[in-house]
Amino acid sequence: MAILKIAKLGHPVLVKKTNEINNLNKLNLKKIVFDMSETIIDADGIGLAAPQVHLSHRMFIYRNPDIEDDDKINITVFINPIIEKLSDETEDDWEACLSVPGMSGLVRRFKRIKYSAIDLNGNNIAGEVEGLHARVIQHEFDHLNGVLYTSRLAHKSAFGYSEEM
Ligand code: NI
Repeated sequence: MAILKIAKLGHPVLVKKTNEINNLNKLNLKKIVFDMSETIIDADGIGLAAPQVHLSHRMFIYRNPDIEDDDKINITVFINPIIEKLSDETEDDWEACLSVPGMSGLVRRFKRIKYSAIDLNGNNIAGEVEGLHARVIQHEFDHLNGVLYTSRLAHKSAFGYSEEM
């Protein structure tokens, strides 16, 4: 395994739309996921999308905030995900991103969403989630379309250095 270099705000890979993954084996996706897992743990992040490690693929990993993980590491892998809001209801909350280190912003997200994706074994996964879990998925999904949370601020002024807020 290896800790990967994280692309920071300003790198073109972060604003590029990613490519769908058609052949799981050809890509050696297991190695990518292992390396991304090590990277997210090292950086103490909640989610990490492929573009953040300079890979323009439609996949991300995240730690499910609904699971208590005291000693066991919980990493969920979403490949070629699709998400849809379950209602128009939104929530504002603070977000940060490993590609925008030291900063945080108040971001408006849909409160409840449904998702479908493929997992690392090629199985279809789907579900409905809300709150922080829905927020994490929406944040990571945005990365696959070249969108950073900084373009979804609830208020223009609700953004700055975490240590100042
Ligand atoms: Ni992010």
